[in-house]
Amino acid sequence: MRKPVIAIDGYSSTGKSSISKVIANELDLIHMDTGALYRGVTYFALKNCLEQTGEINLEKLFAQLPLIKIEFKTVDHELQIFLNDEDISQQIRDKEVSSNVSLIACQKEVRDYLMETQRSIAKEGGVILDGRDIGTVVLPDADFKFFLTASIEERTRRRYLELKSMGVNMLEEEVRENLTTRDKIDSEREVAPLKKAEDAIIIDNTTLTKMETILLIKSYIHPI
Ligand code: DC
Repeated sequence: MRKPVIAIDGYSSTGKSSISKVIANELDLIHMDTGALYRGVTYFALKNCLEQTGEINLEKLFAQLPLIKIEFKTVDHELQIFLNDEDISQQIRDKEVSSNVSLIACQKEVRDYLMETQRSIAKEGGVILDGRDIGTVVLPDADFKFFLTASIEERTRRRYLELKSMGVNMLEEEVRENLTTRDKIDSEREVAPLKKAEDAIIIDNTTLTKMETILLIKSYIHPI
């Protein structure tokens, strides 16, 4: 029996990564949070490709892409992301990375560069990748595809509480605006926009708990 390839796409703060992580543990699959790859490149750009004005020099970044080595390693049962051997799992969640990542994720050069990392992990099967274009572009032949969505009110509430628990104080209105802007940029970009694959199953988890969402997704996954 072959292990499945599962694609989970969807809007920000629908719980894609944390849900994928649990499903991967339960089904003994490898989980890759592909957003972390875009965040890793953004972190690199902020460190190495900043203009005096504070803007990222995209041409400089494109030229340096071959120097970027991004790897996932298991540390204490957790998958950590390393950039040129530096553990950047915490840094990629910084506010500055979050506010610049959509710009970086729009760039075809960056997306092409990260494609191989994503496809190579899926070659042998037994993986769950979460992101925005997994079912449409990265793994169009995935065995199971899901598209997660939830109301903007509920996603704002979740993100607000998550930030608060991390000690970040932001107004709910500000959180809502961030989410809306990010989803707009991700959905309207020219290259690999966020959209549901035709054959993806929509999971609206506005009124579902994390556990209920996991059970619902698992109910569609069968041996292949
Ligand atoms: O899931 P996240 O918030 O960590 O994603 C960070 C950014 O990367 C977000 O703007 C969407 C983008 N992204 C993407 O364009 N394609 C992916 N496969 C994953 C994330």
